[in-house]
Amino acid sequence: KTSLIIAPSMLSADFSRTAEEVESINKSGAQWVHLDVMDGMFVPNITFGPKFIKDLRSHSDLVFDTHLMVDKPERYITHFAQSGSDYITVHAEASVHLHRTLQMIKDSGCKAGVSLIPSSSITSILPILDMVDLILIMTVNPGFGGQSLIPSTLEKISELASIRTQKGYKYLLSVDGGVNLSTVNMIAERGADVAVCGSAFFCEQDRSGFIQAMWDKARQ
Ligand code: DX5
Ligand code: ZN
Repeated sequence: KTSLIIAPSMLSADFSRTAEEVESINKSGAQWVHLDVMDGMFVPNITFGPKFIKDLRSHSDLVFDTHLMVDKPERYITHFAQSGSDYITVHAEASVHLHRTLQMIKDSGCKAGVSLIPSSSITSILPILDMVDLILIMTVNPGFGGQSLIPSTLEKISELASIRTQKGYKYLLSVDGGVNLSTVNMIAERGADVAVCGSAFFCEQDRSGFIQAMWDKARQ
């Protein structure tokens, strides 16, 4: 797929040099910036909140793709919308009234995303597929960068791509976890539109070379 969107995740950036790191994403050719928010409850790690995103906003014109790994994310939608997020994605497992939460995101002026952890099937999100702009399929258990992609999660990409065609839905399919030069083709061939990429991007010195190589691999 030639149009694959690459979203480097700031989770793997050096947090003592965050402005330079986001500027390296700007220059790399990647189209989006992925922002992993963790609360130490929904996932066993803690990262950053809306102020971090707001401060980064003036260092990039790219699409800000905020991934909330937070219990009861409805409590924070307004804060993350005001921080300059373009997409706000919540976990189906973290929000009881998922329809209401997604509506809150849309009412805040942002694009609404829903995410599934590896052990969740697509059944729970079928009733809200008509209202989402993005589905984020987790291909690792969320919480940490640098893990290996779990192959059994890939089927969900194909399933959601085929439902999209059948029903005429418009959502983007994004894939998050263990995406690198060896796995990007597996997700692209199943219909992924967005590849989130943390450790594989930030461990590279030549970041534009890496993005170009990802596009080449996605097409093979
Ligand atoms: C995992 C995060 C991912 C993470 C991916 O909990 O949601 O966005 O940064 O990192 P890699 O690409 O290293 O698996
Ligand atoms: Zn993420």
